[in-house]
Amino acid sequence: MLRLMDGLSVWDRAVVIGASSGIGAAIGRQLADEGTTVILIARREERLAEIVEDINQRHSGRAQYLTCDVRDVAACENTFDKILAEGDVDAVFYCAGVIPEGGAKGFPTTADVAAIQANLVGAVVWLNRAAEMFQRRGAGTIVGISSVAGERGRQPNPVYSATKAAFSVYLESLHYRLARSGVTVLCVKPGFVRTEMIGRRRVFPPAVSSTEAARVIIQSARGRRRMIYVPAWWRLIAIVFRSAPAALFRRLPI
Ligand SMILES: NC(=O)c1ccc[n+]([C@@H]2O[C@H](COP(=O)([O-])OP(=O)(O)OC[C@H]3O[C@@H](n4cnc5c(N)ncnc54)[C@H](OP(=O)(O)O)[C@@H]3O)[C@@H](O)[C@H]2O)c1
Repeated sequence: MLRLMDGLSVWDRAVVIGASSGIGAAIGRQLADEGTTVILIARREERLAEIVEDINQRHSGRAQYLTCDVRDVAACENTFDKILAEGDVDAVFYCAGVIPEGGAKGFPTTADVAAIQANLVGAVVWLNRAAEMFQRRGAGTIVGISSVAGERGRQPNPVYSATKAAFSVYLESLHYRLARSGVTVLCVKPGFVRTEMIGRRRVFPPAVSSTEAARVIIQSARGRRRMIYVPAWWRLIAIVFRSAPAALFRRLPI
């Protein structure tokens, strides 16, 4: 349930999937700082334990973690069951994602299939479950971290772009289906965010911090937005991207 705390509407209990680093970890920390109890999910147990310990030192008992590989459908279902056995959930943030290694130059089928499972299949398993539960309740918040990479087919990483295009359309469809039930569904399309995913690589336009990305994402979810670019000016780049001729994309390695 959203409740008021220091003038902010705050969720009681939220699940963040893909929370051991980057955007998901920053969302988990900020939600906890605002008064939400968070359950953080990912594979790297040491990283999760560190983040949870840090949160709980500041706000006792406000964070816990469960390990889960989102490519494993049964593990996702069991983890969701465990979370619900301990209480209701008001918001689910799906932040897990990978860029398939070797996809920029070659055609690494194994890595591509793993990326489809992590970026899309896992998302559908977690968010279908959340959608069903929130629709029944007539309230709830679903947030999915997609990408500007899904706006257009491009040479590097065809499968990463394809998973993000599919994820964006899935989230848009969920929004249309659930809006009248009072459920918020937010699709987030980041440009560049300085996380382990891009490492120290120099990027242009410049990357924003994961803390800033998390701040905007949480604020937009609270404001019941349907789709946002992070930072917002990526919306303009996306318009240029979508309208540029295919001949340009055949020549440029972007
Ligand atoms: N950084 C950017 O510039 C950027 C731009 C556009 C979109 N995005 C999207 O933002 C989301 C978050 O990425 P990030 O930038 O924060 O990168 P990140 O620091 O690498 O975080 C990725 C998260 O996904 C989790 N994850 C990956 N595979 C998983 C699996 N099989 N099972 C469970 N968890 C898994 C990772 O945890 P474990 O490895 O511990 O499992 C980690 O917590 C991704 O969906 C990414 O595509 C990022």
